Amino acid sequence: MAQEVRGVIAPGKNEPVRVETVVIPDPGPGEAVVRIQACGVCHTDLHYKQGGINDDFPFLLGHEAAGIVETVGEGVSDVAPGDFVILNWRAVCGQCRACKRGRPWYCFDTHNAQQKMTLAGTGQELSPALGIGAFAEKTLVAAGQCTKVDPAVAPAVAGLLGCGVMAGIGAAINTGGVTRGDSVAVIGCGGVGDAAIAGAQLAGARRIIAVDIDDAKLETAARMGATHTVNSTLMDPVTAIQELTDGFGADVVIEAVGRPETYQQAFYARDLAGTVVLVGVPTPEMKLELPLLDVFGRGGALKSSWYGDCLPSRDFPMLIDLHLQGRLDLESFVTETIALDEVEKAFERMHRGDVLRSVVVF
Ligand code: APR
Ligand code: ZN
Ligand code: ZN
Repeated sequence: MAQEVRGVIAPGKNEPVRVETVVIPDPGPGEAVVRIQACGVCHTDLHYKQGGINDDFPFLLGHEAAGIVETVGEGVSDVAPGDFVILNWRAVCGQCRACKRGRPWYCFDTHNAQQKMTLAGTGQELSPALGIGAFAEKTLVAAGQCTKVDPAVAPAVAGLLGCGVMAGIGAAINTGGVTRGDSVAVIGCGGVGDAAIAGAQLAGARRIIAVDIDDAKLETAARMGATHTVNSTLMDPVTAIQELTDGFGADVVIEAVGRPETYQQAFYARDLAGTVVLVGVPTPEMKLELPLLDVFGRGGALKSSWYGDCLPSRDFPMLIDLHLQGRLDLESFVTETIALDEVEKAFERMHRGDVLRSVVVF
């Protein structure tokens, strides 16, 4: 029996979001209906609302979520009703070349639920943000988008691993391969950069240098585990990072802004054999100009990080366990918890830049 729930809809480009009644079909083969307990407000939700991702309005927003599996469709064996799960953007196929090579984050054949959620009354089909749509009391996903984790964790904290926090931690531990004793620099200390700092700390980095243009962000970064902070409006960050690393540059530099000047800083701030990890997403017109001799003269690696290069079934339960053991602070990322009808207000606060995460709790 299809059911009706409340959900946050972005009706059209730049229009305010509103709470509407959404129809959730019963799960079909390979699908699951999840009762959402918490869902974080991410920049990507704002980008959907602004029409910056695509024009498939109306969107059902929300994609950093945790909840309880309510019902599953035919052929679903990995999760069962009652399981506490974190949702991820897409189920991977497990069969393609990328999956078989152990790099499922590059899977060629990812999928979401096949059936559509619709608006009650009009029957209009909804596009769920990142294939999730979790600013809703319940949502329909592919069962492969659900990862079971220890239910002892608070849902508001667990949901964060579904997007931004995983992207940052994964950039450090998966893509960057930060290891004990490394010097790490993180350029851009918003939610993603701060998560990269937490990841570097978890991996045992010796020095963690936070770079930002905003002193308030640097204060938060220090609380998240940065050992040094650099305000790049006051000093050249490349020189500062070199000075803080005995003149060598950082073993791993993580760029979490997405601008040409910070890409360039990341390139030059690394040790000759160091790794640059690009997490910040540039816009299509941005270009980076580098002398080829500098590219040739530096070994190491230049990598981009895609969803923290995470394997949800491996990384979500591990990070939740580390959190429950007191070894990974995730609570600090939750600035405030809000109600479903406060998402528009949360976007305004996000714009002002004074929150790490507002999390809708149900
Ligand atoms: N140099 C250093 N820091 C900068 C600069 C700069 N030139 N310009 C902006 N910043 C800082 C901001 O002060 C802020 O602290 O970068 C940070 C960006 O943080 P958010 O806007 O909160 O973005 P966040 O959610 O952390 O995402 C960062 O990662 O996943 C991508 O799409 C995401 O490109 C975005 C990036
Ligand atoms: Zn997100
Ligand atoms: Zn695949």
